[in-house]
Amino acid sequence: MAETPLLHHSTDPFADGEHNGHDPAAPSSDVATCGADGGIPVVDFDVLVNGSADRRARAIRDLGRACEDWGFFMVVNHGVPEELKEATMEACRELFSLPEEEKAGYLEAGPMDPVRIGTGFFSVVDGVRYWRDYLKMFVHPELHCPAKPPKLRDVAAEYSAKTRGLLLVLAKAISESLGLDGGRIPEAMDLESCFQILVANHYPPCSGPPGDAGLGMPAHSDHGFLTLLFQNGVDGLQVERDGRWGLAKPLPGAFFVIAGDQLEIVSNGRYKGALHRAVVGGERARMSVVSMISPCLDTVVEPVPELVPDGRGLEFRGVRYRDYMEHQQSNKLDGKGALDIARVKRD
Ligand code: SIN
Ligand code: FE2
Repeated sequence: MAETPLLHHSTDPFADGEHNGHDPAAPSSDVATCGADGGIPVVDFDVLVNGSADRRARAIRDLGRACEDWGFFMVVNHGVPEELKEATMEACRELFSLPEEEKAGYLEAGPMDPVRIGTGFFSVVDGVRYWRDYLKMFVHPELHCPAKPPKLRDVAAEYSAKTRGLLLVLAKAISESLGLDGGRIPEAMDLESCFQILVANHYPPCSGPPGDAGLGMPAHSDHGFLTLLFQNGVDGLQVERDGRWGLAKPLPGAFFVIAGDQLEIVSNGRYKGALHRAVVGGERARMSVVSMISPCLDTVVEPVPELVPDGRGLEFRGVRYRDYMEHQQSNKLDGKGALDIARVKRD
């Protein structure tokens, strides 16, 4: 290890609960690097908002394909200022650097508590080491935030509002890509008054090539609807496609967007929640900042009937989002994916 961890408190990394029950696999060295030229779809946000009817229709079709084939894409020309992204990352980095006693109150928090700080540093689960510190805050409909560093509250409020706006526009475009009105999917999940979480992850540096040292975060799909992610210039996010892992390389300034389980449910499985994980390794610490929108906690999410003509081929039953999230974060998945609680059983 080239650096001591920012937190010295060891907990089960799965207690953070992003793990969805897939077996943690040791990172393999034959992971391909994939960026825009390696096939990761790229969505031009400006075209979705300001493009001519033709260009917009094409962008929406491509967005639909991205959600169908990958459940993962990049968004460029998104209008979220670089300075705001950097200020958010910096405020989170300062939080991680605070003395332990400043964070103590949040270290014991559970998955449904509105502010939680934790670490999976140096944990070993099934022979794989997980190294990660994290801050998780519920930021909408009400902003919850640690008191220190003082700048965090304002910056988190602004960043959450900007990214929420961006994600809502993407949600409408996704709705159109399914052949529905733009408002249909957002309405089905009460996204306008959505539940939103901000997460910052810190993966300490360590010797050895990236991936050889262990995983920062085990393979999982996100429990929400759509996740927006950027990193501090250090790669480490891997995404699964057709059974193979690829290291995601962003275009300059781009966000990664990850389809979550609620999109899979509401689209009756047409769009897939992407399986992803993060590796640690290399000389530089890695940070990622995640903004995720989800249905309201009390919304029952089910496939929209228009996508299930005559009720035939129904893949999922309705599950209240709060129950889904609690289940996904419960650590009691017993090797099964969280989606299994919503999946319609067939003989
Ligand atoms: C996440 O899946 O929430 C974070 C992955 C990353 O750090 O890139
Ligand atoms: Fe994730």
